[in-house]
Amino acid sequence: MALQLGDIAPDFTVETTSGPLSWHAYLGDGWGVLFSHPKDFTPVCTTELGEVARLKPEFDKRNVKVAGLSVDSLDSHSRWIGDIAETQGHALNYPLIADPDRTVANLYGMIHPNASDTFTVRSVFVIGPDKKVKLTITYPASTGRNFGEILRVIDSLQLTAGYSVATPVNWKDGEDVIIVPSLSDADAAAKFPKGWKALKPYLRVTPQPNR
Ligand code: BEZ
Repeated sequence: MALQLGDIAPDFTVETTSGPLSWHAYLGDGWGVLFSHPKDFTPVCTTELGEVARLKPEFDKRNVKVAGLSVDSLDSHSRWIGDIAETQGHALNYPLIADPDRTVANLYGMIHPNASDTFTVRSVFVIGPDKKVKLTITYPASTGRNFGEILRVIDSLQLTAGYSVATPVNWKDGEDVIIVPSLSDADAAAKFPKGWKALKPYLRVTPQPNR
């Protein structure tokens, strides 16, 4: 069965462009993003990997370790990454996993045979400090992902983990958040000294607590 939210993200040891990597040890006590791309030396993938390199400081700020993956060989990755730096203006600054025997791709369900039985699709897994899967996204090969959206979800997940809040539709960092319905008004009063606006008893809006 496919990996689902709340499942433990499987551990693995692999070769990467940064050397051998053991996934859980690499994540340590922090957060992680594992994303697959279909194939080296392809246009959309080249733009995506450059974008993740550009955004690396944003992942670092959030204590998120990133790794990319495809079923190409380490030799292929090593030959391709120069093109990413050259065309995207950002050199790879995170590990790119070589998974030619599909060990990780199979563990994470990254090959969707009715889309392609040779490529990984564009999968994203966000993993929490408890090593549990917090988010999965799957895009087709023809659509480049929006990694700003992935940072936005991480901001939301980290707020939920720290402050008992959820985030409303189209929320962006700095905007008001929602007090989770499981928190009583009495407990909310202690947790949210700035107060809240109750549009309904179950819809209580409060300023972002870490601002
Ligand atoms: C691309 O990255 O452009 C791509 C890769 C595989 C299939 C289609 C597009």
